Amino acid sequence: MTHNIESMDNVGRFWNESVGYIIYPETFKDGNGDGVGDLLGIISELDYLRDLGVNLLWICPIFSSPMDDNGYDVSDYMTINPMYGTNEDFKKLLDEAHKRGIRIIIDFVLNHTSDEHPWFKKALEDPNSEERSYYFFRKGRREGDKILPPNNWKGFFSTSVWKQIGDSDDFYFHIFSEKMPDVDWSNPKLRQRYFDTARHYLELGVDGFRLDAVAHLAKDTSFENSSLPCDENGLCYDTDRFSNRPELFDYLHEFKREVFSKYPCFTIGEVGGGISAEKSLLFSDRETGCIDEVFNFDTAWCNGAYGSIDKKDDEIKTDVLGLKRSLKHWYDTCHARADMPLYWCNHDHPRVLSQYGSTQYRAESAKALFTTLLFMYGTPFIYQGDEIGMSNVNYTRPEDFFRDVGNKNEVASLRARGYNDEQITHYLNRVSRVNARTPMQWTRGHEAGFTEGENKTNKINDNYLEGVNVLDEMNNPWSILNFYQYAIWKRRSPEINNLIQNSRFQFLDMNHPDVVAYMHEGSENLVVIASFRPYQTYFSFYWAVRDVLLHNYADVILQDHVFTLRPFECFLLKV
Ligand code: GLC
Repeated sequence: MTHNIESMDNVGRFWNESVGYIIYPETFKDGNGDGVGDLLGIISELDYLRDLGVNLLWICPIFSSPMDDNGYDVSDYMTINPMYGTNEDFKKLLDEAHKRGIRIIIDFVLNHTSDEHPWFKKALEDPNSEERSYYFFRKGRREGDKILPPNNWKGFFSTSVWKQIGDSDDFYFHIFSEKMPDVDWSNPKLRQRYFDTARHYLELGVDGFRLDAVAHLAKDTSFENSSLPCDENGLCYDTDRFSNRPELFDYLHEFKREVFSKYPCFTIGEVGGGISAEKSLLFSDRETGCIDEVFNFDTAWCNGAYGSIDKKDDEIKTDVLGLKRSLKHWYDTCHARADMPLYWCNHDHPRVLSQYGSTQYRAESAKALFTTLLFMYGTPFIYQGDEIGMSNVNYTRPEDFFRDVGNKNEVASLRARGYNDEQITHYLNRVSRVNARTPMQWTRGHEAGFTEGENKTNKINDNYLEGVNVLDEMNNPWSILNFYQYAIWKRRSPEINNLIQNSRFQFLDMNHPDVVAYMHEGSENLVVIASFRPYQTYFSFYWAVRDVLLHNYADVILQDHVFTLRPFECFLLKV
């Protein structure tokens, strides 16, 4: 094993001392001028990341892939996608990151392969092959001269979960795009293939995995029709049939026994929206669980934007009370039993600045959102570009979103339901995950400094010309970027980290509809107060302020124990 992190303690649960950063490799930085981000580009920005203060990277998938779902459709787990570089480049990335005290977890896609993976090709070619048993093949239902899918389930990308093979009676199962057939984890041979792959990367020196779509590894293999209400195509969105089912935990315990427990690695599973905090302990309880942390989606859409095509802009408002309830519930359930991640958004969500912040108060709201997140109990993850206040796009037509297969299918489905292109574009500008997948804005120069060639990815957000870029942010002492850097430095100080991990934590004034405020009580008391509104609001406060550690306005208005909070004003205080 080539673990070689010289500048860090080899602490067991290193994620409790980490600030993470999520890289979407296609749009982070192009190192070879071909217009697409790559590993050389990431290597070239490792100093930037170290200086920002992060010490853990989650890199979205980098393996060979036909890129139907931007790398989540893997055609070879052992080879780096040539558009991102070579296996040698990956080795170099690990070494260079480790030299700088930065650990790397890779995105491991386990629920499905690409239909171009040799296993699936073999499975199609030879019905008697071992590979055939890695996937779910079922016969369709005959109705007269029509052949219908084996059941009425709908997948995550707006289609049936079944794809007919040519004009035969056979179908295969896929909960994402039709080019991503699900694999069958009940098959022990299949499980061994994944265990081997994980071992390979751990031996190479990776520090762990983000386990993609892990909640879906076990399915209801009766494949009976769902009785939930159907859509206009007779399809039912009954995700319980393929989410968080009991057998899943057997598979993951075996994975832990055979692989994870043998390495100093960090495993974080994407479990999505279908799981309660209580049930999440089945995954991440420190004593009895099978992986280290889980990403839930409960704090990702607390503004009513999900599925909001019929809503007007002014109906989209951050539900501060709901957000606090959810954060509190997860904290109360997990604290001292399980570790948990903290994040506002990732490559599957629109930009948090446009969701809960405000482009009108870009700097103020970016700082307030970050402060709120950073000092809570958990492992914070920054999504690339949030540190410079990147926001949602302003595209003009649905086709601008078509590099995302999920959006492409959704546009077809919305058009079929009678929405016009203007409505659809407006909606996708609000909710699409393409918002998070535009090129990182490094400078005001050519293609925002993302590539020396011609950008071949999603259209760049024009606001890089208005100062939303790394270089301009570096040169402004009061910028979002400089605030992030200072805040992370504070967060990683052993004194504050210790307080956050081990103290009593409580929300202050839970019923305040506009402000998120909380306190860690220990040998010292640490308080965060953050307004989530673009207008003035007030917050009563009865402690004596001993120090202002972070603040995003030039002066403080505190009179008779009441803070006057200007738009998105935030504090980190010692009291
Ligand atoms: C996860 C990924 C998402 C991808 C899906 C299918 O949800 O985060 O980007 O589309 O899995 O792999």
